[in-house]
Amino acid sequence: MKAAIIYTSITGNTEALAEEIYQGMISKGIEVDFIPVDDLDYDMLPSYDVIAIGTYTWDNGDLPMEMEDLFTAFEEMDMKHVTTGVFGTGDSFYPYYCGAVNLFRDMLFVHTNLAVTLKVELTPQVSDSKRCEKFCDRLMGQLVTA
Ligand SMILES: Cc1cc2nc3c(=O)[nH]c(=O)nc-3n(C[C@H](O)[C@H](O)[C@H](O)COP(=O)(O)O)c2cc1C
Repeated sequence: MKAAIIYTSITGNTEALAEEIYQGMISKGIEVDFIPVDDLDYDMLPSYDVIAIGTYTWDNGDLPMEMEDLFTAFEEMDMKHVTTGVFGTGDSFYPYYCGAVNLFRDMLFVHTNLAVTLKVELTPQVSDSKRCEKFCDRLMGQLVTA
């Protein structure tokens, strides 16, 4: 079983959430590659069984620029065998709260085996830890079995 967390973060909120999810997966004995999107080797994508994607939201509910290539890669590659989850942080002050999570969710639902989503307001709080745990459980519970 091969898993990856691929994320982007500017001010650290999404990175903190990604780290919490990473720890959650590690504690369940899963081996996980922890990859900032700028370091991603795109050829590796189809080799994962599970991929969790972490993104903040920019502009008016839009994807961060550095996530656009990843978004297109999922659209173009055949990855129905890959179980995915998408998580992100946003600010509910904006009209499209965590809009980038919604954009990934809708696309991953079509092109992968989407298992779960998670939205967190700015910095993850202690009260979010149960939600992180659920995210991991749902992600791992919906593995595609060959
Ligand atoms: C210019 C700008 C635009 C933003 N637009 C949105 C938005 O449309 N929706 C949203 O939920 N959050 C929006 N945010 C908030 C960020 O997504 C939020 O602060 C996030 O936690 C940043 O993640 P990071 O710390 O991982 O970089 C915006 C922030 C900035 C500075």
